[in-house]
Amino acid sequence: MHQSWKLIRLAANHPVAAFTCGTRPGAAEIDRYLREQALTEQAARLSAVWVVEDTNANALNDALVGFFSLSPVSVRLSPLLMERIGVHAPYLSIGGWLLGKMGVAVQHQGHGLGAPLVASAIAQARALRDTTAGPLLVVDPKNEQLMHWYLGLDFGFKRLAPTDPRSLRLAMKL
Ligand SMILES: CC(C)(COP(=O)(O)OP(=O)(O)OC[C@H]1O[C@@H](n2cnc3c(N)ncnc32)[C@H](O)[C@@H]1OP(=O)(O)O)[C@@H](O)C(=O)NCCC(=O)NCCS
Repeated sequence: MHQSWKLIRLAANHPVAAFTCGTRPGAAEIDRYLREQALTEQAARLSAVWVVEDTNANALNDALVGFFSLSPVSVRLSPLLMERIGVHAPYLSIGGWLLGKMGVAVQHQGHGLGAPLVASAIAQARALRDTTAGPLLVVDPKNEQLMHWYLGLDFGFKRLAPTDPRSLRLAMKL
């Protein structure tokens, strides 16, 4: 990422109203989340929202390059999960972190920024794992194209229910 880009927590002065991640399927929902829900959810400690801020942006409205949210999640432990992800525990379910919403500003898309953004989310989730436990990072891709994109990123995401076409949920061991 550029030197002038900083990963920081979403704050009230960020120009969220000007942020858009385009018109791809699901993108409007991501925009709406950042504009209308993210700050409130963060204040309520439901999720932590991280933004990439361009500290050198020419206009304030261009300052947000991308964002992602993380929140706690509980995942039912299955033989498949233990085998595919390598997490073994004598419990019905285990805790982890959900990469809930993620978007790159439309003017920055198509330059491979998605992968470093996911890497940043993984790094934040690892820090949470180290202080609080929770060995999984989970993501629910919006569609099959995005699911294949995550699987191709080489971070070790695996499909949790590969035989269920309705579930695109992926997880990786932190
Ligand atoms: C997903 C996203 C964060 C990736 O960031 P990026 O900087 O564009 O990343 P990349 O340049 O590596 O491109 C990501 C790939 O996902 C595809 N993609 C992006 N959004 C998509 C969507 N909503 N539906 C289907 N495919 C999508 C891109 O076409 C690209 O595919 P390719 O690698 O075959 O060319 C960004 O494209 C975005 O904000 N998309 C709209 C919001 C969204 O769908 N978020 C959900 C994430 S689960």
